[in-house]
Amino acid sequence: MHIPSTLSSARKFLSSHLTKASSTVETCVVIDATIGNGHDTLFLAEQVQPNGKVYGFDIQNDAITATRSRLQAANLLPIVELYRLSHDRFDEVLPKVHLGHIQAVMFNLGYLPHGDPSIITQPSTTIAALSKMTHWLASGGIITLALYTGHPGGQEEAASVIKWATSLPAKSFQVMWQQILNRNHAPSLVVIEKK
Ligand SMILES: C[S@@+](CC[C@H](N)C(=O)[O-])C[C@H]1O[C@@H](n2cnc3c(N)ncnc32)[C@H](O)[C@@H]1O
Repeated sequence: MHIPSTLSSARKFLSSHLTKASSTVETCVVIDATIGNGHDTLFLAEQVQPNGKVYGFDIQNDAITATRSRLQAANLLPIVELYRLSHDRFDEVLPKVHLGHIQAVMFNLGYLPHGDPSIITQPSTTIAALSKMTHWLASGGIITLALYTGHPGGQEEAASVIKWATSLPAKSFQVMWQQILNRNHAPSLVVIEKK
């Protein structure tokens, strides 16, 4: 077995949880908090289809367009709703019926690959989104965060997320931080599981 990359590791956690959740709940509802080019949205849609639902958020039009066509090509657009909206405002559009029933949330922080590198996720909105999402998460549900430190602002954001995640009460959440040690600016992965 090889040590997986940050992204494959996140996907392994999500896939394992969603396979189990799909067998116990009728509609597996998940959130892609940073859709970007839609690779993760497609991954999530594949995990929860045919009965599940994916809500995706990004602040850039290009991300919405790229993700919509990726999902359309895979015939999975019907189970996906995309919003050009900052992820900390997800609760303005998500039906309240999903409160406490979100099975997974995926964050892939930083900037849109091949896009404008100055448009990046910001600690204040990332933490605001996370704080609300912990309430919307189902018992047993997980949040994964891929943290990048190679771009300006990345280190500060990673530090804020780690500080916030460290402060979650251990009686309600299990929190893990995973990092490759022998690479400069290696991305790292935070996984939060709600007990
Ligand atoms: C690293 S990319 C995501 C990659 C993506 N998951 C994929 O599979 O291609 C980060 C994305 O976060 C978006 N973003 C930045 N701030 C955001 C915010 N406040 N709410 C939602 N998305 C945001 C950026 O526009 C960018 O597209």
